[in-house]
Amino acid sequence: MSDKQLQEKHDLNVIIVDDKEEGGRKAFELVEEAVQNGAQVLGLATGSSPVPLYNEMKNSETDYSHLISINLDEYVGLPEDHPQSYHTFMYEHLFQYKPFKKTFIPNGLGDEEEEIKRYNRVIEEYPIDLQILGIGTNAHIGFNEPGTPFLQETHMEKLTDATIEANKRYFETEEDVPKYAFSMGIKSIVSAKKIILMAYGEQKAEAISKMINGPITEEVPASILQTHDDVTIIVDKAAASKL
Ligand code: GLP
Repeated sequence: MSDKQLQEKHDLNVIIVDDKEEGGRKAFELVEEAVQNGAQVLGLATGSSPVPLYNEMKNSETDYSHLISINLDEYVGLPEDHPQSYHTFMYEHLFQYKPFKKTFIPNGLGDEEEEIKRYNRVIEEYPIDLQILGIGTNAHIGFNEPGTPFLQETHMEKLTDATIEANKRYFETEEDVPKYAFSMGIKSIVSAKKIILMAYGEQKAEAISKMINGPITEEVPASILQTHDDVTIIVDKAAASKL
């Protein structure tokens, strides 16, 4: 990503759906099209927003066993088999039904420096054809919180209070929510040829509005998508209500 690319603005393609099930079907159509057109590497996301898409994928006839997947992030400190790890999430929602040729997810127990190097090598070796994204209520993508430099690659991110608050529903107590995560950087996310971002519900409306209509700023990580020429945003009416 060069300074020139950072300045170029593109219109984001916005699809407003009735509910997340319809959103999942729309996203699935785009994934199918990309796979049929030869996509080899899918960038995958966790969170509730991509689940309807993963349901469509798991119930489809499509074979994914020739594809590589690279996930965005993982909580630091959680072993792979922890119920709230993103390894467990991906296995439960997709990989147990649809095996991929190779799947990559950061190792939450990995040594910081080595894990960052390893993951950057993975992303370099397998350029992402299609990146799936959700968005945080504070407009984070992956775990790139507001203020993360756009040009940063894989790194360890300190989670903001807003993210800990939003994600505590998955843990027994707020203290159990990890405070750090390994995340693919924004630079790598926008290197994907094609991007699909899904968001549902009123709590995402502000982030969606700032991402699409606000200034491109590191304070709104998802605003970087305005510089990408192939982004589809799938939102329900509530998430689109401030557009
Ligand atoms: C987490 C993930 C993000 C995800 C966000 C929103 O913080 N790291 O990748 O987009 O949650 O999750 P949800 O889709 O459940 O609202």
